[in-house]
Amino acid sequence: MNKKTVIANFKMNKTCRETVAYMTELLPLVEKYDAYIGICPPFTAIKSASRKAKGSNVIIGAQNLNENEKGTYTGEISTAMLIEAGAKFSLIGHSERRSLYNETNELINKKIKKALASGFTSVLCIGETALERTHKKTQDIINIQLSKALEGVYANELKYIFIAYEPLWAISKGTGSLPLPTKEEISGAVNYIRKVLENLYDKQTSQNTIVLYGGSVDDVNASSLSTIAGVDGALVGGASLNTVKFSKIVEGFSKK
Ligand code: PGA
Repeated sequence: MNKKTVIANFKMNKTCRETVAYMTELLPLVEKYDAYIGICPPFTAIKSASRKAKGSNVIIGAQNLNENEKGTYTGEISTAMLIEAGAKFSLIGHSERRSLYNETNELINKKIKKALASGFTSVLCIGETALERTHKKTQDIINIQLSKALEGVYANELKYIFIAYEPLWAISKGTGSLPLPTKEEISGAVNYIRKVLENLYDKQTSQNTIVLYGGSVDDVNASSLSTIAGVDGALVGGASLNTVKFSKIVEGFSKK
C-alpha cells in the first residue's frame, strides 16, 4: 500500500494563536504515523504554522490563491506571498469558493496554471451537487470540471496536482437530502476520475495521480474509507479542527 495523504481544511476557523496551539497539540500525536499530512489554516496563520511544522511530518498549505502575479486586486493573495509565508501547496476550486464566490472552471484553470508556474502544488477540488447527483449528472460534472480545470496542463505537470473528489451533498455531514456516499459510490466516482485522466492524458499519468476523497471524513469512518481502492487519502473539514479526531483520521489512513 502506498503512503496516503491526509489534508486538513480549517476553512474560516482558528486565529493564528489558535492554529499555533493546535499545531503544538497535533505534532506529537501524529509524529509516529506513516502518512503525508497537510494543514490548510487561514492565511494569517500560515507563517506561524509553517514555523511550528518545521522538521515535523506536517506541511502547511493555503485554502486559495489569486491567479495573477501581483497588482490591483484588493483583498487577494498571491502565490509568491503564500510561498514566502511557508505554504507548500494550495486548495483550488473548493466547492465553497465555487458556490459562494462564483469561481468558474475557467478561473480555476488560471489558478492551477499560476500555481504550476510558481512551482506550487495544487489540490484541485471537484464534485457534483445533490441536484446533479439526483439527475445522474455526476460523471458529466466530473468530466467538465476536470477537463476545463486541466486545459493546457501537461501530463508531466500532473504530479503537482492532486484531485480531491468532494461530492457537495456529502460535505459537513451531508445536506440531509441524500445519505452519505457508500464506499462503492466513492470508488465508482474515483474510477471515473481516473478514466477521464486517462482520456485526457494516458494510463500511467492517470494511475500516478493522487486522488483524495472529501466529505464528512471523521475519526470513525477514516479507517474504512482508507481501504477504498484508488483513494489515496482524504481532505477533511469539520473533523480536522479537533487535534484528537484529526490524529485518529491520520492513523486511519496510515500505512499499517
Ligand atoms: P467536511 O468538509 O469534512 O466538514 O465535510 C470537507 C471539505 O469541505 O473540504
